[in-house]
Amino acid sequence: MKLFIDTANGSEIREMAWLVDGVTTNPSLVAKEKRPFRDIIAEICTLVDGPVSAEVIGLETDEMVAEAKELAPIHENVVIKIPMTEAGMKAVKILTSEGIRTNVTLVFSANQAMLAAKCGAAYVSPFVGRIDDMGGDGMGLIAEIQECYQHYAFPTEILVASIRHPRHLLDAALIGADVATVPYGVLKKAFNHPLTDLGISRFLKDWEGVPR
Ligand code: E4P
Repeated sequence: MKLFIDTANGSEIREMAWLVDGVTTNPSLVAKEKRPFRDIIAEICTLVDGPVSAEVIGLETDEMVAEAKELAPIHENVVIKIPMTEAGMKAVKILTSEGIRTNVTLVFSANQAMLAAKCGAAYVSPFVGRIDDMGGDGMGLIAEIQECYQHYAFPTEILVASIRHPRHLLDAALIGADVATVPYGVLKKAFNHPLTDLGISRFLKDWEGVPR
């Protein structure tokens, strides 16, 4: 499974660049940085050698295509994030035909994921955390999408998004998702276990008894 970091923060990305295979941003994450969008995306592309998702704001097809054409030349690793709407899927089709890779975002059903794949999306991003927040089954949606994609050998990669805690990350791996995009805080937590900390303290204490 590929591991992306879900942030627009340069320090977080710099710290985790040795580990991650790519970066996803969204308008809310970008807004926290209080810097011009293009500068943020250009900087991220210098930090991580992998796909960097940059989201469009327009809601009409022609607006999305125009924004995508402004963002894509920033770096060859830029992937254009397009919301899952009918207008968005028209934009995905156009951009795909022109060789611009897309990540279809705000996906909450397998039908949406199928349509995104039909239109040629490179990635589809189901938001498991937001589904779970409403009492739904986010990981169940990933399983459904996987099944649909296997029937037709769609090349679209399933990018598990809206990850809230380390268990989501593990579940994404157990189900065999292509990619998980993980917030910085969740990534840090995934390294830890109290028994690891306890084990280290005990080893170090015992080591004090070793003659030098
Ligand atoms: C995905 O690409 C999105 O940026 C992100 O995972 C959304 O997560 P949230 O539901 O925590 O905002």
